[in-house]
Amino acid sequence: MNNTHIETTAIRTQAERTQNLEHSVPLYLTSSYVFEDSEDMRASFAEEKERNIYSRYSNPNTSEFIDKIVLMEKAEAGFAFASGMAAVFSSLAALLNSGDHIVACKSLFGSTHGLFTQYFPKWKISHSYFNINELDSIENLIKPETKILFAESPTNPGVDILDLDKLGKIAKRHNLILIIDNCFATPYLQNPIVFGADLVIHSATKLIDGQGRVLGGVTVGRADLIREIYLFSRNTGPSMSPFNAWVLSKSLETLPVRLEKHCENALKVAKFLEKHDAITNVKYPFLKSHPQYKIAKKQMKLGGNVIAFEIKKGIDAGRKFIDSIKLCSISANLGDTRSILTHPASTTHSKLSKLDRLESGITDGLIRISVGLEHVDDIIKDLDQAIAEGENV
Ligand SMILES: Cc1ncc(COP(=O)(O)O)c(C=O)c1O
Repeated sequence: MNNTHIETTAIRTQAERTQNLEHSVPLYLTSSYVFEDSEDMRASFAEEKERNIYSRYSNPNTSEFIDKIVLMEKAEAGFAFASGMAAVFSSLAALLNSGDHIVACKSLFGSTHGLFTQYFPKWKISHSYFNINELDSIENLIKPETKILFAESPTNPGVDILDLDKLGKIAKRHNLILIIDNCFATPYLQNPIVFGADLVIHSATKLIDGQGRVLGGVTVGRADLIREIYLFSRNTGPSMSPFNAWVLSKSLETLPVRLEKHCENALKVAKFLEKHDAITNVKYPFLKSHPQYKIAKKQMKLGGNVIAFEIKKGIDAGRKFIDSIKLCSISANLGDTRSILTHPASTTHSKLSKLDRLESGITDGLIRISVGLEHVDDIIKDLDQAIAEGENV
């Protein structure tokens, strides 16, 4: 399915039909596969044949899901994981050795920050952070032992945008592996490989699933790096389950249409919030007031579905606002059909020190909304009445 539009690729990339000539790909719930004879088994294990051996290594459903993301991200190869964090951890652990160093943007998903600060030091893997508005200082942080440049764009939860082209050029100049967590954008809105990324990671749990059902993760990119990640994962076992791959591959069929509507709704909600007297610091990539609006326009097709904002009156009004919400959900997930509100300082990023949070742009009053697919007027009505309640504290 090369050279088709992304909508077609997402639908028509399909596992080979069985003798039943099914139209929709069936679920392959099998842990292992049979061999013709001992020679077939030997040759398969020796990788002289490309075939399924054991579902920790590969499965028709996971292969279909990976093939779709590879094509949609313009990558060479990929591997699918049980969750986004399994993808982040396994990809980095496969490529890094003791003594290696990572340079990363400080605005990171909380668990990725936890990995860099609490776990990698156990294996003598160190990191240096740059702030979102300090891209020019990245080169000062690079040491002889630096191997990886890591960033998210848009960032979670601050919805900041990093200039991927700039990062790609820095990585190339210093021979670093550039890894982009593309979770907020999905392959439909942004392809970091086009700007020089070597690997792209997704939490498929979010917009790729799109309906808040299953966990999943995927890493795609350069074939030589994916080979290392595959060998590591085949031995250590973080692989995606066939069931989740089946669900997620079906979800990809509707990703482009879902994203068009998510982004349309989000832009309307962002404009409503921006105009509201009780709200401040509204950040949405496709609002002209976003500090990196021009970069977002350059590298993203649409602005995504996540907006960050603050209630002007502060933390008490913010709590009252959240407690007054009737339609939207209060949950830690994002990228669902259902609109979701989160308070990152007390949830996803609560393990960070206050200073670390502030340096990542997460103030105590920051609220993140993942705009869903309900009618946008109903979402706005709900936010409006809850903001009014917040004003009464
Ligand atoms: C940017 C980003 N990366 C990684 C993850 C981790 O994904 P998962 O929850 O599927 O492990 C998340 C989850 O919210 C995320 O937002």
